[in-house]
Amino acid sequence: MKGGGNEIAICPGSYDPVTNGHLDTIARVARTFKKVIVGVVDQPVRKQQTLFSAEERREFLDDATKDMENVTVEVFDTLLVEFARKHDATVVVKGLRAISDFEYEFEMNQLNRMLDPDIESFYLMSSPKYSFLSSSGVKEMAAFGGDTGDLVPKRVAEMLKERYRR
Ligand code: PNS
Repeated sequence: MKGGGNEIAICPGSYDPVTNGHLDTIARVARTFKKVIVGVVDQPVRKQQTLFSAEERREFLDDATKDMENVTVEVFDTLLVEFARKHDATVVVKGLRAISDFEYEFEMNQLNRMLDPDIESFYLMSSPKYSFLSSSGVKEMAAFGGDTGDLVPKRVAEMLKERYRR
């Protein structure tokens, strides 16, 4: 068992697209850890085809975190534990919103623990303001012509509008 592994945190996700809730979590993690690596999963298995390509999702995150000096963004297409090991990270941090997130995260946690018990997952309670904000909610809103400007970075809101233009 490795010790003292609290310097680098991985914040993994689909980020399709990144929301202000994700950014709030990333900023809070960045205040706690020396280095944060945001891992954008190339193709999430359990979700439908992503709206944005991995490269687009990475670019949105790069742009939105450009003022966070200790945050970098990278696409990955491996197991999360392999991605963490590649970066010498032993900590994964995920944001938890409503209770509905719990069951899924609990299962993921068990799988990751089985794959590598040296990698510990931490769960950060979302700020109340973002408790019900999700990428899928934002996409639905945009698909029906709603303005997502208050929920996602400006560039993302513009791209959502463009993607759903009918
Ligand atoms: O934003 P999400 O969809 O909750 O993020 C899911 C993510 C990226 C954390 C998860 O899909 C993931 O870790 N994918 C990589 C494959 C993996 O390691 N799965 C868990 C163990 S089987």
